[in-house]
Amino acid sequence: MCQRLSLNLIPNRLVIQSILILYLCFDFKQMERKIIQTSDGSSSVYLPEWDENYHSKHGAIQEAYHVFIRSGLDLFKDESSLGILEMGFGTGLNCMITYLEAIKRNLTIDYMGLEAYPLESKMIFELNHLEQLQAKKESKVYQSIQTSDWEARVKISPQFNLTKRKIMFEDYQEHEVADLIYFDAFGARVQPELWTETIFKKMYEALNNKGIIVTYAAKGSVRRAMQAVGFKVERLPGPPGKREMLRGIK
Ligand SMILES: C[S@@+](CC[C@H](N)C(=O)[O-])C[C@H]1O[C@@H](n2cnc3c(N)ncnc32)[C@H](O)[C@@H]1O
Repeated sequence: MCQRLSLNLIPNRLVIQSILILYLCFDFKQMERKIIQTSDGSSSVYLPEWDENYHSKHGAIQEAYHVFIRSGLDLFKDESSLGILEMGFGTGLNCMITYLEAIKRNLTIDYMGLEAYPLESKMIFELNHLEQLQAKKESKVYQSIQTSDWEARVKISPQFNLTKRKIMFEDYQEHEVADLIYFDAFGARVQPELWTETIFKKMYEALNNKGIIVTYAAKGSVRRAMQAVGFKVERLPGPPGKREMLRGIK
């Protein structure tokens, strides 16, 4: 009797779970987004409902340089070309900073940004990131990065190709396509499902041998999930306002 009862309940549970996921996705798209100023004077986007920012409140630009450029891109100083995968394209700030660094370092970059919920262009341009990066002379490039078609590999400049994919991290499945991953999901407090072994296994598979993954997160559970799928994980000093961050090597 008990067994029959629990078997009958299984489909119901699945249906309820699916409805919940659909509801959360819908809810996330509808959430209010506000532009805020972070401590280094650069702007970011704030989700009041989750009390969560797209970047560190201690400095959006500062965080991007610390976590993704100095702790990630800098490890590829001897390379002339590189594939980068960004989990959470968001405002395109990391992408623009990477472009600026590619020019400085004479690096050729194939950049892929995954994003399930693209921001409206109007809000992105209101952030004024280009001025805050003191890169106004790159406004054509910035425009192309922000307005390039989704699902297309676009030549932004002779040295920089960009592919933006509108996809859930959960559905991503590629093998050995990147040398460096910028893992920039919202925090585990609000999206614990994105900081799991399932997602990090996808990241491990997406990386070439000796590839690197960097993230601003430092939680023990995140480090253990990365280690469990095979990454050798280092704890590094975090950006201002954060004691540590993580870097994984395949
Ligand atoms: C911390 S923000 C990324 C900030 C971004 N790197 C930037 O430079 O502006 C996290 C991003 O992940 C996206 N996101 C949230 N859940 C997702 C999911 N399940 N799949 C794909 N993208 C998701 C959000 O829409 C948001 O743009």
